[in-house]
Formats: sequence, structure tokens, C-alpha cells
Amino acid sequence: MKIVHVASELFPYIKTGGLADAVGALSSTLADLGHEVSVFVPGYRAVVDHPLAAAAKRTLRLRIEMGDTFMSGEVVTFSPKPNLKVYLVCRDEFFDRRHPYGTSERDYEDNHHRFIFFCKGVVETLRFLELRADVIHGHDWQCGLLPVLLRHAEQRYATTLAMKTVFTIHNIAFQGVFPLRSFYRTNLPDELMGIDGVEFYGQMSMMKAGILFADRVTTVSPRYAREIQTPEFGCGLEGVVGTRADDIVGLINGIDTDIWNPAKDALIPAKYTPEALAGKAACRAELLKQNGFNPKFAGPVVGMVCRLTEQKGVDLVVANEAFFKANDVRFIVLGTGDKLLEQALRKLAEALPGRVAVCTRLDEAMSHLVEAGSDFFLMPSRFEPCGLNQMYSQAYGTVPLVTRVGGLADTVVDVEASAEAGTGILFAPTAEGVGEGLKRALALYAAPAVFKAAQLRGMRRDFSWSTAAKAYERLYDDAI
Ligand code: ADP
Ligand code: GLC
Repeated sequence: MKIVHVASELFPYIKTGGLADAVGALSSTLADLGHEVSVFVPGYRAVVDHPLAAAAKRTLRLRIEMGDTFMSGEVVTFSPKPNLKVYLVCRDEFFDRRHPYGTSERDYEDNHHRFIFFCKGVVETLRFLELRADVIHGHDWQCGLLPVLLRHAEQRYATTLAMKTVFTIHNIAFQGVFPLRSFYRTNLPDELMGIDGVEFYGQMSMMKAGILFADRVTTVSPRYAREIQTPEFGCGLEGVVGTRADDIVGLINGIDTDIWNPAKDALIPAKYTPEALAGKAACRAELLKQNGFNPKFAGPVVGMVCRLTEQKGVDLVVANEAFFKANDVRFIVLGTGDKLLEQALRKLAEALPGRVAVCTRLDEAMSHLVEAGSDFFLMPSRFEPCGLNQMYSQAYGTVPLVTRVGGLADTVVDVEASAEAGTGILFAPTAEGVGEGLKRALALYAAPAVFKAAQLRGMRRDFSWSTAAKAYERLYDDAI
């Protein structure tokens, strides 16, 4: 098939979260399966300057209608491997910036213009290069307008740009909601401005457009597909999602087993496998050392890596200060984001200097070391569409402690629920739930044989993208 992915992040070029990993690995695996795959991303500074993009060639000059004006841009292209082409939609005014969406204080004020331009740039490129895709697959709100812009351009130019459109919701909490007056920049017919179109409580919602107008809608776990049809998790879009209930499926992401694999991970000090676990102890010692702890510490080491946001439940951990005071554990957190949550974590580390360490930076190598060197990995998310770290953790023999939501509940089996299949510990997304999860972790650690069995079961599970990508292949086939 000719498959076009469109996203605002792509590993290894630009990443703020799991979206980049998911799009990077899915597109690359589909290329390995023999499909002809193109991926469009904005030409952010980080991507254009990336060493792997050094061979990029200018392919097209763009002149994009944006309401009553035209804006220029260009498309540059490179091919990181056979069957895979990356297209960068460039316009320096919009994308030559340090961060993709804004600073840690606030989002950029022109994000609607930036992503309308991006989606239109994709459509124009498909048209001029006559790519004729079987499937065009957009991800998250930044690509929400893509299906409707594509169909509109097909009508306008009496041509076919893509057979089917697919839209994936990676996180419904981010919706791309902007003043309705910016709708005119889309040049779409006025009737789409109403309640049956992009209008959402008097504003324009790009996420809503994606859900309404794509041929197929997917999300990244079956449980999240059900959750977002309820007011508790739908963030106001539950009704809209409900109208697509027959077309929405939840497909679990895979993990990139070239990058997240303790047997060949280049970013950890010692490699290991389920058959030869000694390297994990070396990683553990290094993790403790790099975070200012005694590398010989024998009690449980709990790690956490995440964006510091309300979603990830950081405050639910901070509320358990008494647990860390009362128990001889080491807790290591790596994360950036919300300044108040950063401060709360720093305060916790200052109050418990020998027990808690906090790194507030983006650090790919440390994220691998935390996965490899911890005994437990904590993910107390309030909601989690899929989540990648709980799968990385299982692959690294690090027992996940997760809330019973979304993809976490779909990918971790509680050790008490099943003695044969259990790989982790599940609990409720509340401060009490997290406290109970941590206590159960202590008890599990105190039973080394049971702990090791859970570790090994996790390591032997198959979370590879080759399985996950086949589910997308079937979905595309079925849609066509
Ligand atoms: P989300 O996309 O909601 O942030 P995921 O679990 O899908 O959550 O993916 C998060 C990804 O971002 C993981 O690969 C994780 O290791 C990485 N990550 C998060 N924070 C950091 C950080 N401070 N440094 C390095 N990697 C990070
Ligand atoms: C989003 C979600 C996360 C998911 C990722 C990739 O960022 O928050 O749960 O794993 O997208 O699909």
C-alpha cells in the first residue's frame, strides 16, 4: 500500500512525548513490511538541523491559501531507509522555533495558523507530486483538519488524493481549540463552521474535525476507546466520539525493540537478557550512583519518567511523602513540564535527601538508565491513552506500578489477579491508590522468587511493533 502518515512529532527528529515514538516506529515498521510509506512533519528547527536530515533536498515550493492571503513555504524531503520518505513542510515564520508548541509558560499564539498551514501544505504536496495514497493517516489535533481539507481539495480540483483517511487520537485532552474567527483561514465552506462541523462551544476544535471527518478513527488502546465515550475521560468530546462508535477502534502501540531492548541498548552501561540478568544489577548501581545514592543500596529502587502534567499523577506521588519517609526505598524521577509540579518534586527531594532524587531535564540516556536500573517503574496516571513506559519497563525486567486506566490496564496484568501471567501491580488513580500500590511493591520485593517470576514474565512478552503494525495493516485493508 501507499501509506502517508502526518504528525507533528517524529522520533528521532522531534519528540515531546510518546506520539513521536509511536509515529516513528509505526511508519518505519510499515516500510519494513514492504509498504511505500511517506511521513509529513513540520520543518521545525530541530528536524531541519538533525544530522539524519542533512541530505534533505528541496522538492517543492509552496504557495498556500490562508483565508484572504497566500503564504509561501517549501517542502524538503529525505529518505532515512528504503520504502520510507520524510517530507518536511517548512516555513521559518512558523516552524523555525526552539519548541514545537510553545514555552513551558504558554502555547504559541499562532498555533492555529501554524497547523492549518501544515495540513494545507501536506494536501498541496500530495496534489503536486501526485502521490495518490491508499491511506492518509493523521495523528492528534494538529492533523485534525487534514481529512476535511483533503476532501475539499479533491472536490475543488476534481482529483483523488487519497482513498481513505484515518485519524488517530493519542490524547483527547489536547484538542486544538481556537477562536472560531480563525476558521476563515481554512477556506472551507461556511456550513462546516456549525455544530455539525468544527464548532465546539463557540470555538473551533481541530480534534473534533478529525473525529468527525476521517473515514476511520482509532485510538491507542481498546480501553481508552471506551473511556473517551464517557464524560469522565472524553474531555467534552464524548458525544462526538459516540457518533463514531462504530468506526472507532483501539490499537495498542508497540515499542521499538531496536531502541528499547536491554540486550542491545547502547545507552545503558551493561546489557542483559532474561537468561542473563547480571547486567541489570550493573545498571542499577550506575543509576543509584548517578543520582547521588550509594550504588550498593539493597532495598527497592522505584523509577519514574514522564512529562510533568496533571495527566501523569505526579501530585498523587507527592501526596505520599509519608510513605517515602517511613520506608527505606530510593525514588528517582526524571521529568520536565509544569513548574509547580517541578517545585513540588524538588521539595520532596529536599525533605528526603537520602531517598528521593529528581532530574528536571529532557535526557534520553537517563530515561533508558531509569528503565534498566529500577526495580519498579511508577506510572500513576489519571488517564493514559496507551503509555509506552509500562511496556518498556516490562521489557527491561522492571515491574510496573500503574493505575487501572486506559492502555496501562490493557498492557499490565496484576500479579495478584493472575499467578501465571502477572507482570505488575495495578491500583486506583488516587493518592490512596498510589500509596497502596507502593506498599504492595514493598511486599513483592520482599518475596524474591515471586518478584523475579513477575520480572521474567514481563521480559518475555511481545510488545514489538511488528505485531502492532499488522493491526494497522488490517485496518487499512478493511477501510479500503
Ligand atoms: P506521553 O506521550 O503521554 O508523554 P508515553 O508513555 O506515551 O507518554 O511516552 C512518553 C515518552 O517520553 C517515553 O518514551 C519517555 O521515556 C519519554 N520521556 C518523558 N519525559 C522524558 C524526559 N524528561 N527525558 C527523556 N525522555 C522522556
Ligand atoms: C499520547 C498519550 C500516551 C500515548 C502516546 C502515543 O501522548 O498520552 O498515552 O502512549 O500518545 O500514542
